[in-house]
Amino acid sequence: MNQDELKRLVGEAARDEVLQLPAGAVLGVGTGSTVNCFIDAIAPHRDRFAGAVSSSNATTERLLKHGFQVLDPNAVETLPVYVDGADEIDPFGYMIKGGGGALTREKIIASMAKQFICICDSSKQVPILGHFALPVEIIPISQGVVTRELEKLGGQVSLRHAKNTRADLEQTPSEPFVTDNGAWILDVAGLKIVDPIALESQIKQIAGVITVGLFAKERAHILLVSNVSGVSKIL
Ligand code: 5RP
Repeated sequence: MNQDELKRLVGEAARDEVLQLPAGAVLGVGTGSTVNCFIDAIAPHRDRFAGAVSSSNATTERLLKHGFQVLDPNAVETLPVYVDGADEIDPFGYMIKGGGGALTREKIIASMAKQFICICDSSKQVPILGHFALPVEIIPISQGVVTRELEKLGGQVSLRHAKNTRADLEQTPSEPFVTDNGAWILDVAGLKIVDPIALESQIKQIAGVITVGLFAKERAHILLVSNVSGVSKIL
């Protein structure tokens, strides 16, 4: 089974999980290739849901394409569940997210939900977070000062760049990656995150930081994880 098949499998397991909600619920929907499998799996059942709250422009586009009603988060008070992937997840449900650059809206929607259902394949499970570079969304003018503060924590910091898509751009540095919020992302490599709650609050306090992709306060309550033998429900 390849990774795409593992993503499809866990997307279908998340579909089965949310189909247990009473009809008329609003779904919180994350971002990424695993969540895309969930959206595709739930699409034939869209009429059971009052709509969805989306964590990114890419997810909104996919939901609309499938005929979902996409609701403004300000018009929704609580969500029964938020379904999203992760770049890394530890045994306590703490996660690194933001590989796709949607960390701020993901954290906002996750904070509205009663339950965070994380969906991933087993390659995302780690004993200690930090092998995946930690994304930090920042106000662009703070790049210098935030970089220096993150280096003091022991990280190697790099500004995320947009991927070059044209061959003639390959020789020149690309532009910074710009998030849906018009902000930039610093990726922090080399951290061994032994206390996710403390590090999340420490990084959040640096002036210029919008959101850190460490989801400790907004940890996963349920983990659906796929491997070659199927999907397990953990946490
Ligand atoms: C996007 C995210 C994604 O959930 C994370 O990057 C996992 O993505 P994928 O399912 O494509 O591996 O946090 O900001």
